[in-house]
Amino acid sequence: MMERGTKMKIGMLTSGGDCQALNAAMRGVVKGLSHNVKDLEVYGFYNGYKGLIYSDYRLLTSQDFSGILTKGGTILGSSRQPFKLMREPDENGLNKVEAMKSTYYKLNLDCLVILGGNGTQKTANLLREEGLNIIHLPKTIDNDIYGTDVTFGFQSAIDIACDAIDCIHTTASSHSRVFIVEVMGHKVGWLTLYAGVASGADIILLPEIPYDIKKIVDAINKRKEEGKGFTILAVAEGAISKEDAKLSKKDLKKKMEEYKYPSVSYEIADKITKATGSEARVTVPGHMQRGGSPCPYDRVLCTRLGAAAAQAIIDKDYGNMIAMVDGKTKRVPLEKVAGKLKMVEPDCQMIQEAKRIGISFGD
Ligand code: F6P
Repeated sequence: MMERGTKMKIGMLTSGGDCQALNAAMRGVVKGLSHNVKDLEVYGFYNGYKGLIYSDYRLLTSQDFSGILTKGGTILGSSRQPFKLMREPDENGLNKVEAMKSTYYKLNLDCLVILGGNGTQKTANLLREEGLNIIHLPKTIDNDIYGTDVTFGFQSAIDIACDAIDCIHTTASSHSRVFIVEVMGHKVGWLTLYAGVASGADIILLPEIPYDIKKIVDAINKRKEEGKGFTILAVAEGAISKEDAKLSKKDLKKKMEEYKYPSVSYEIADKITKATGSEARVTVPGHMQRGGSPCPYDRVLCTRLGAAAAQAIIDKDYGNMIAMVDGKTKRVPLEKVAGKLKMVEPDCQMIQEAKRIGISFGD
């Protein structure tokens, strides 16, 4: 217990795309504090950084954190506030960074707990540089935050993406079709890799391993020769062809302006159909992957990260992301990780093992 008479005031916000275990993580932090701090006030900011900028908040009570361990989404709401625009004034000329600082100081907060992904983390680091006491918790289904082995939301999203591919599997085999399931993950392939391996996908395409359409067609034809009439592809939404990977940023942007497909999976399906004569269909589970209840793994992860965050706040050890490294919670300085992306290593053990059992990565 902290000394009697010491009041602690913390703020909390969830920013960026939502995911399944945000509420579980906030509950972990608040339980970790309320069981160890005599006098605690928790302010919840609505809709991410927006709430902090425009002073849209509410004093939360223990009731708010009751029964939310299993609840998806976020009780605080979320929004995307791009980091690159944070230093730009809003449409009414308001200085957003100064406005956030002013809300923080007006409420006399001891610390601000920020739950979010990469972009959110960059703004969290900016606020740290501006002198605020910050604790960051790594949220994203993409699992692309540098400095932590895993982010919360990732395992829950694997379950959903995997379920989608499992369902497609039975239909693909009944109809002898080629099916593509497009998996979220932004610019990285973690979610596709894990969901693809877990569901027995035959071809897995990741942004980190640019694909050659000929290799994909070869893999489909090889399966046909082996008497397997269907093929399942797990394709990351950020998958890219070898040709496109060679283009400069400017040329790729230009090409995308004239792009006729809704997403990369439809382009690949079109090319497969033309090359093999076999019908290729696309399924996009989309935002389903961020929805519903957190899986038990994420509930445990968030309870541990939340409790560790509470301890860092009690120790006044601010400016950290609370990470999970080698099965242990760890305080990682934000300045060391903000702005870095954790990508799949194309030659990592898991890819090598997947290749060994015959999975094609289209390379
Ligand atoms: O970062 C999580 C994520 O779901 C990505 O996988 C995806 O690319 C993106 O968010 C989608 O963003 P939005 O919900 O804003 O369309």
